Formats: sequence, C-alpha cells, structure tokens
Amino acid sequence: MNLQDYIAQADALERDGSAALQGAADADALEAARIAFLGDRQGQVKTLQEALRAISKDDKPAAGKRFNEARTRLESLHAERKTSLDRATAPAAAEDRSLPARRQWRGAKHPVTLVIEEIEGIFRELGFTVAQGPQAETEWYNFGALNFPPNHPALDAHDTMYLEGEGLLRTHTSPVQMRTLQKYVPPIRVLIPGLVHRRDPFDASHAPSFEQIEGLCVDEGISFVDLKATLNRFAERLFGASRTRFRPSFFPFTEPSAEMDVQCGVCGGSGCATCKGTGWIEILGAGMVHPKVLEAAGIDSERYSGWAFGMGPARIAVSRYGIPDIRILYDSDVRFLEQIAE
Ligand code: PHE
Repeated sequence: MNLQDYIAQADALERDGSAALQGAADADALEAARIAFLGDRQGQVKTLQEALRAISKDDKPAAGKRFNEARTRLESLHAERKTSLDRATAPAAAEDRSLPARRQWRGAKHPVTLVIEEIEGIFRELGFTVAQGPQAETEWYNFGALNFPPNHPALDAHDTMYLEGEGLLRTHTSPVQMRTLQKYVPPIRVLIPGLVHRRDPFDASHAPSFEQIEGLCVDEGISFVDLKATLNRFAERLFGASRTRFRPSFFPFTEPSAEMDVQCGVCGGSGCATCKGTGWIEILGAGMVHPKVLEAAGIDSERYSGWAFGMGPARIAVSRYGIPDIRILYDSDVRFLEQIAE
C-alpha cells in the first residue's frame, strides 16, 4: 500500500470512529463502538496498525505518525463519551427506600401574623394603605410630637427603653402617625403594623416586645361618627356580628379619647375566664387626633380633622384562639403553633 492510500484510510477511520463514539446514545452503544474501532482483536484501529507492515521503510515514519494521531484521537473521544454517559446515569445519592415514610412538614404563619394579615385585609377594603416606620425612634416622634408633657410617666426610664446616646425603642406605633402626616397631604388613610417595646416583664398578659397596629384617618369633615362607624364595621368583620362599647379614656395625642370593647365571643357576654368575668374584651384605644398633633405636622387643624386607633393583635389572638398565656406566642413550640396554623 502506498502512503497516500494509507493516509486516506486513516482519515476515513478517524472520521467514522469519531461519529460512532460521539453518537453513542448509551453505554451499550458506546461499548459496541469501542469494540468495532478500538477492540484488541478485530477492531479497525488494530487492522490499520497491522497494515503498517505493508508500508515501505521510507514511508513508515509518516504513516506511523498518522496512525498514532488517529488512534489517540479515538481513544480520547471514547474516554470523554464514557465520562458523560456515566455522569448522566449515576444514581443521585444512596437512598434507603426501606425507611418508613416521613410526614410532610411545612412551615406556617404564626397566629399573630394571621391576625395582622386579616386586619390588614379588612382595612384595605375600607381604603387604607399599609405603612411602616422605624423601631428606633427619637424622643420627639415617640412623645413630644404626640403632645406628651415632659413629665409624663410614660417617659420614665422604668417604662421606656432608651438607647445609648440618643433615641429610644418606640413604645407604640403612634410616632408613625406624625411621620405619615409630615409626608402626605390629606385625605390620609393608613394602617401601620409593627413591633413596639416597653420595659415590661414577661407575664401571662404582657411582653417587653409586641406587635401593635395603628390606624390613622385624616380628611376634611371627619368626626367621631366616622371613628365609631369604621371601628364597628371592623369589629363586625373580625369577630362576626358582635356588640361593641366605647368607654371614655385619655391619650395625650387624641381628644376625645376612648377604649373600645367587644362583647366576649367565648361566653357571649355572660362572663367567663377569657373576659375575666366582665363579658367584654378590650381591643383598642382610639380618639380624635389632637389639633396640636396636626399643627405639629404643619396641617391646618381648622380645615382638617381625623381619628386614630392603636391595638395589640396578640391580645386579639389570645382571645380568639383561647390562649391562656401570652408567652406561648413567643415560645415557637410547634405543638402549639400547629393547632392554629392554616
Ligand atoms: N398609642 C396608644 C397606646 O399604645 C394607642 C392609641 C393609638 C390610642 C392611637 C389612641 C390613638 O396605648
């Protein structure tokens, strides 16, 4: 055989072998291609190697070089294809299918979150938007802007957690009233959920950090009728058809002020442990926004008026779900949370 023919054969072999090895669809096809081309006994590479013997001494180096190239290329294509097929078919991980099945476990929302979201939904339908404010506040936003006199007991270090240097942890969400009034032009309707902090020890009905929800509505011609009608509608939606009552109260930033009670849903008003025998559950503090608060925000209190409320969704969760101790809400005990999770 002359050199030219030998090289043509080597080219053809390399071409056909490459196609067969690269195109092997699975391990069996790859093995068949390996035997056909790289097989020790009747592989085509072997045959081409044997054909070298018939090449003249002068042409042998060139033919041998071409032979080696073709063989090396086919061997490496085989190795490559084998690796990729192995990777595709390897079992994901050793798994023991004889183990008993485990129950599906999904996270769920905390009872207080459920109450907050429900309340947000009700107020959204009434045209309120949801806003937020910072938990680290200045004394002015938390107290001064809200008409607290400088000697008010709430400012006492026994009640409020002051930060080193300046500022404090807000004791209620009411500072966000002022932040909202400064930022927007009436008509304003906002709902403000958020954490607040007080120097209260943990007990069955108090926690040092807890959620509050503030509501604020400011526009022309707003009166106490709007406050009562809106909050009654809210109570109706949250507690079902249920009676409410408003008791006179005091907050420096509202005038007049009231506490709103809802008839106890557990006993229907006859008195039980949940309502401590009174038949009523106190759910929020509210009142007409004090003109001084509006003026501090630069809003004309002759033209605009408004009402506000603040409530603790944990209190509502406690009475709604019959939770005997508020501390359970902070324990993250799945055995409890599972009973309420939706
Ligand atoms: N900020 C008051 C509190 O924490 C609640 C409140 C809010 C009362 C808005 C009236 C109006 O007790």
